[in-house]
Amino acid sequence: MVIKTATFVKSSGKWQECPEPNMPEYAFIGRSNVGKSSLINAMMNHKDLAKTSGTPGKTQLINHFLVNENWYLTDLPGYGYAKVSKVQRKDFEKLITNYILNRRNLVNLFVLIDSRHSPQKIDLEFIQWCGESGVPFSIVFTKADKLKPNVAIQNVEAYKNELLKTWEDLPETYLTSAEKKEGCEEILNFIQTTNEFLENNSVSFDE
Ligand code: GTP
Ligand code: MG
Repeated sequence: MVIKTATFVKSSGKWQECPEPNMPEYAFIGRSNVGKSSLINAMMNHKDLAKTSGTPGKTQLINHFLVNENWYLTDLPGYGYAKVSKVQRKDFEKLITNYILNRRNLVNLFVLIDSRHSPQKIDLEFIQWCGESGVPFSIVFTKADKLKPNVAIQNVEAYKNELLKTWEDLPETYLTSAEKKEGCEEILNFIQTTNEFLENNSVSFDE
């Protein structure tokens, strides 16, 4: 997909404040610091459309970007950030889960996982929750440039094997690097194909 335009629309503190749900929407979620905002910038070919930081907890609101005037890309706050109070963490969780469960134009959630680590409980639990809640999602492995290519591939395989312990079918997976812009085209192709399907089937998000 060619990105002709990508513009920041707004930051929202709750799902009710998000832009009119009149276009297909795709959201990035994952642990704090996993590389959500960086990958959005890489996909959009834009250095700082989404704000990134070496310190976890940078993105604290739901950020909407309008792409090619016809779909939304959403940057969500990370989950599991340890350095905030329990109450604050619960608030973030509520913000995220309410958004996911109520945003009626949300077509697919991209769950980002750091390709360097072995499967972590918090991510597996989140993926489980998506399954139980009927949320369509794909898994995006990040920061592949930090590993030797064969190690990155091995880690992805190990992750899939872990998922296969509880899942019959695996979701789509992508191996990416925001640094090297790897995997961006594949994700954009998936979005384009999905958008075309929705258009051809006259899917509308009106209530
Ligand atoms: P929060 O908004 O805090 O939840 O974090 P985030 O998931 O949006 O992460 P962000 O994109 O801000 O990136 C966190 C750190 O990881 C930054 O220092 C990035 O430069 C770095 N980073 C992100 N993606 C990559 C990547 O593909 N390769 C490398 N080498 N570093 C990356
Ligand atoms: Mg961020």
